[in-house]
Amino acid sequence: MSLTRDSTGALLLGGVRLRDVAADAGTPSYAYDLDGVARSARALEEAFEGAAHLVAYAVKANTAGAVVEALASVGCGADVVSGAELGVALACGVPPDSIVYSGVAKTDDEIDRALGCGPRGIGAVQVESLEEIQRVAARAEAAGRKARVGVRINPSVDLAAATHAHIATGHDEAKFGVPRPDVGAAVQQVEASAHLELVGMTAHAGSQFVEVRPYVEAARVLFEIVRELRGGGRCRTLTFVDSGGGFGIDYGDSPSIPSPADFVLAARKEQKAFGLADLALHVEPGRALVAEHGVLLARVIQVKVAASARWLMIDAGMNDLVRPALYQARHRVVPLDRDVPADAIPWFVVGPVCESSDDFGEHLLPRQPPEAVAILDAGAYGYTMASRYNGRQAPAEVFVRGGRVVGTVARGSVEDWVHERARAGR
Ligand code: LLP
Repeated sequence: MSLTRDSTGALLLGGVRLRDVAADAGTPSYAYDLDGVARSARALEEAFEGAAHLVAYAVKANTAGAVVEALASVGCGADVVSGAELGVALACGVPPDSIVYSGVAKTDDEIDRALGCGPRGIGAVQVESLEEIQRVAARAEAAGRKARVGVRINPSVDLAAATHAHIATGHDEAKFGVPRPDVGAAVQQVEASAHLELVGMTAHAGSQFVEVRPYVEAARVLFEIVRELRGGGRCRTLTFVDSGGGFGIDYGDSPSIPSPADFVLAARKEQKAFGLADLALHVEPGRALVAEHGVLLARVIQVKVAASARWLMIDAGMNDLVRPALYQARHRVVPLDRDVPADAIPWFVVGPVCESSDDFGEHLLPRQPPEAVAILDAGAYGYTMASRYNGRQAPAEVFVRGGRVVGTVARGSVEDWVHERARAGR
């Protein structure tokens, strides 16, 4: 746990007083505990008990260099979904061999970047359709390289009950992965190409699973397919299977959630049961490594009290943290200066953006409103999904390690934005 309170009740992240962070960096600002991130990654690495594996951190959750570097330094690789994320992973010291690239529509330029780095290109371009296989083969031929390829299957499992519809990816209507009936043909095409080498078979069923069951269900589909293909003499060059990310975290309402290590242990057990223990197991967690180690700090601009409700209006909005608006997600909101008292009252916490969905939900907070609050578990899919709607700027970012602030990225400049937009098209 990255968050504590000192004897005065002030909230600390990684030992640093967040009130000071908010004062120095301004608000809204994200703060991250890099030691906490590394700790989570180490715990996950240990769950493999020395078996061949790769924890490919899903960079989309948090692209900050210090975060990616902290994960790389404890042995994580990267799962990227764009040429830009690939660039960040490489710049932060992730070895090309430890990078996998997922995504349904990679551009030629992005494929070229993936194939061009290091002596052999990245560890695996994870292809998601029959159509893409031909494109990757053509780019590999043009580059004079043999591309290492993983085939991402769509496990076709019904996840309606397991997670939010917007973050389920492994069902029939999803655009992700090779549909089950086409997997045999996909493998055949990769193996038939002189420019491709089949190294992996992968699946990612969705995100924020609060139980192991749906994750394992999708992994079983993958493992079953691989066992069958191998039985038929295929997949001889395979070095890994990849059961994806999706390990959920406790946003405050699921205290008995399994740990990321529990997901890995369950997947390993299935991998063994399907006779695939000779292959490395890859996983692609994003949220589970970073979410709980980040907070979004906001100042209270004003309160508004009506007969119908009490609103706490803060200077962070849905453009800074879109998860509540997009997925009806709930993030805890707590005061920075002291713990929530016993006589707390309900406040609707809202941002300044002109949308009804700019709403962080109802929270118990002191009757005398705090000056500033922290929105918890914002280390994943927070900053990376931020937008500039309403002329709002990118929030600041503050990085904590060893009990002190080790890096800061300033907030975007309003003046620059005004200048840029006012000149747009003229
Ligand atoms: N691998 C692939 C191929 C993915 O598409 C994703 C996430 C991950 C790994 C990492 O999933 P994680 O371990 O973080 O659950 N913005 C949403 C989550 C979208 C996830 C998209 N794909 C949210 O804020 O909940």
